[in-house]
Amino acid sequence: MRYRSPRGTQDILPELQPYWHHIVQSAENIATKYNYKKIDTPMFEDTDLFLRGVGEGTDIVEKEMYTFLDRGGDSLTLRPEGTASICRAYIEHGMHTLPQPVRLYYIAPAFRYERPQRGRFRQHHQFGLEAIGDGSPIIDAEIIELAYQYLYSAGISKMQFMINNIGDKSCRPMFVNALVEFYKKRLDDICEDCRLRFSKNPLRLLDCKRTDYLCQQMIGDSPHTVDYLCTECDEHWNRLLSYLDSLNINYIINPRLVRGLDYYTKTVFEVHPQESGSQTALLGGGRYDGLMEELGSKPVPGIGFGSGIERIVGELRTNKNFVIKELIPDAIMIHIGSPASLEVIKIASSLRNEGMNIVIAPDGRSLRGQMRYAESMKASYVIIIGQNEIDSGLAQVKNMSNGTQKSCPINELSPDSFSNID
Ligand code: HAM
Repeated sequence: MRYRSPRGTQDILPELQPYWHHIVQSAENIATKYNYKKIDTPMFEDTDLFLRGVGEGTDIVEKEMYTFLDRGGDSLTLRPEGTASICRAYIEHGMHTLPQPVRLYYIAPAFRYERPQRGRFRQHHQFGLEAIGDGSPIIDAEIIELAYQYLYSAGISKMQFMINNIGDKSCRPMFVNALVEFYKKRLDDICEDCRLRFSKNPLRLLDCKRTDYLCQQMIGDSPHTVDYLCTECDEHWNRLLSYLDSLNINYIINPRLVRGLDYYTKTVFEVHPQESGSQTALLGGGRYDGLMEELGSKPVPGIGFGSGIERIVGELRTNKNFVIKELIPDAIMIHIGSPASLEVIKIASSLRNEGMNIVIAPDGRSLRGQMRYAESMKASYVIIIGQNEIDSGLAQVKNMSNGTQKSCPINELSPDSFSNID
């Protein structure tokens, strides 16, 4: 084959579309219930937005961005994630004048030059939302509950909901110091990536997935972020936990959860399927109280999450108990001879106007051939019109599930004609 979709991308074929439709509908229903409004931002932004927003020491910025110079010589980057763009839009459109927090959601593609593997693509799609302008842990609880409700309504009933608090700019340095002290004496035990992280961005040490060195053991024995919180972060954390308890949300405190983007402060969370490793987060997010300032605005707190639609589709497809509704015609119109084909084209049009899904069988096939076609399309009914039917003015309508057949006046065919053929 000469052309294929670029590595790490995929066509979303018609048979997968019902899953996408279902997930997008679940997302929009839930977002609406919590009064989040939709926003769309451009697919690309000034590269600098992501350098500042996502952070120069992150994998996304260092290795994964699709960056290019346009014909005017400006450096642009395909959006690798949604939050920086939403914050840019909040500042650009003066949304601080609206009632706070501003609640926004988006469903959009994101681009990362990653090593493609199961559930990891170079173009993926996120349902994401952001609440900007309120620093209270009540909003954290709202977003976490919303995330839970979204996944549940999309059909993910078993999940691991992990949360942590990574402190803010006043207490995080204390934790990072403790981490550096802990790793300092054992640099020979960790992988070369971790040695780089140690000098550039020590928090990322807790993200290492390699098992060929002692990195996992080191992570297991390392200090916990929540033991180094300042009074404000600690109070935020305890209030959040009490809200989640009162909502009966089943969460796991994961003291090593730090997330892969630099903007996070205080609350961070990730959701993983019940039975799999850490490569496959279905959803991830957290608070980013310093990001707006980083982008040049006055300080405005924010929190949100992003959830990979491809990963949810993948989960639903492996769940035998999850049944998705296919798009199946209500009826196939079978026609023999040209007067009949003239008739069926009109009948199909009028039944569609009354809300039915109607397909006309391909022209020029025998009655048997058209019946075989109707079976392969899994249609519920067929309507048969040949010369005899034209002469008598009566069409044959057949229920494909039980074989029952009856005659119906051609000029009276309507959705009701199908209701009593059982
Ligand atoms: P993230 O964890 O990088 O966070 O991505 C969010 C979700 O997008 C992941 O949990 C995963 O489901 C999906 N995802 C990420 N990368 C890929 C990929 N290469 N292939 C398939 N799915 C992927 C963010 O992007 C933050 N902007 C989330 C956020 C919003 N935090 C606060 N507000």
